[in-house]
Amino acid sequence: MFEKISAAPADPILGLTEEFKNDPRSEKINLGVGIYKNESGNTPVLATVKKAEAILLEKETTKSYLSIPGTAEYGLAVQQLLFGADSSIISDKRAKTAQAPGGTGALRVAAEFIKRQLGDVKVWISNPTWANHNGVFAAAGLEIAQYSYYNAETKNMDFDAAVTDLSTAAPGDVVLLHGCCHNPTGIDPTAEQWLQLAKLCVEKQLLPMFDFAYQGFAKGVEDDAEGLRIFAQYCEELLIASSFSKNFGLYNERVGAFTLVAKNAEQAETAFSQVKSIARVIYSNPPAHGAAIVTEILNDAALRAEWEQEVADMRDRIQEMRTLFVQTLKDLGVDADFSFIERQNGMFSFSGLSKDQVARLKEEFAIYIVGSGRISVAGMTKSNMLPLCKGIAAVL
Ligand code: LMR
Repeated sequence: MFEKISAAPADPILGLTEEFKNDPRSEKINLGVGIYKNESGNTPVLATVKKAEAILLEKETTKSYLSIPGTAEYGLAVQQLLFGADSSIISDKRAKTAQAPGGTGALRVAAEFIKRQLGDVKVWISNPTWANHNGVFAAAGLEIAQYSYYNAETKNMDFDAAVTDLSTAAPGDVVLLHGCCHNPTGIDPTAEQWLQLAKLCVEKQLLPMFDFAYQGFAKGVEDDAEGLRIFAQYCEELLIASSFSKNFGLYNERVGAFTLVAKNAEQAETAFSQVKSIARVIYSNPPAHGAAIVTEILNDAALRAEWEQEVADMRDRIQEMRTLFVQTLKDLGVDADFSFIERQNGMFSFSGLSKDQVARLKEEFAIYIVGSGRISVAGMTKSNMLPLCKGIAAVL
């Protein structure tokens, strides 16, 4: 029976990681997948994660199943991170959170929820966006529409075009926004633009959905929630997919959350019963360990402060690499202006490198970049900077 099956294309991001692993060249550089690397090129376990794990090892008494949405403590910790500890959304019980296997798991639950409960609506996705967004929403049978996001000339957000496109959305359509550190461009709306987008959603009766995977990587853990919190002031209903892969370095623990905000506690409870039945048929109930670590850190004042510092250290190192990258290209006599890289947020930048240039970088220099030209600045180090920039200079 299997002889009829044809091969699926490799994943544009994780497939590239496989290729990288199999590349025998010792000087290879991976700027494909969004994984934080320290100055030595490693992805270490955060010190706070190690401490929380030691506590958990002592405290854990069972490996019995969690409930379908995971623990209430985790749900609350996630909501406090999203909306602020004293948010009325939390005290009014308008938010409900289901722990999910990673940000992708949360997005998939959200997609099923939209498809099953909100009818034949479109999901509006920024152009460009994370390579997996289309696949996740399409897998739930949802129709996808794109709104403009990036101006290749100015290397900035094309805000007017985004508004123009979203103005054509129908009432009930879902607008997917990146909470911060837009993937792949690294360009986020300003506070004023967030406000305009929130008002547009209210006026056009659109449902905002946030993909929040990089909280803490732009300005800070609290500051990065600005866009979401502006929306929360104006929009009574919201969906949020959180990921703690990057900000807790818990990539392989698959820690995420799906949060819905409803007009009131009763509607939140009812809608959430549907979320639980969706999770039950996909993964039954979530894995415990990663979420227990996140809960432990966020609920312990000392660990939380130390964790925020660890996030700040990752953020600062990436920023330092942005500056060094721009400077090194300049020093090598590259005419093209890459100064925009310094202005962008988070792990990624849209380099403007063409598909051919990306292919040459891989073939000739063992430098791995996603085909769209997205580079993971988090993979740059002081030691790989010169060979990296020399390779880029050669293909430009
Ligand atoms: C990325 O964008 O590189 C990360 O979110 C990893 C992934 O799953 O694609």
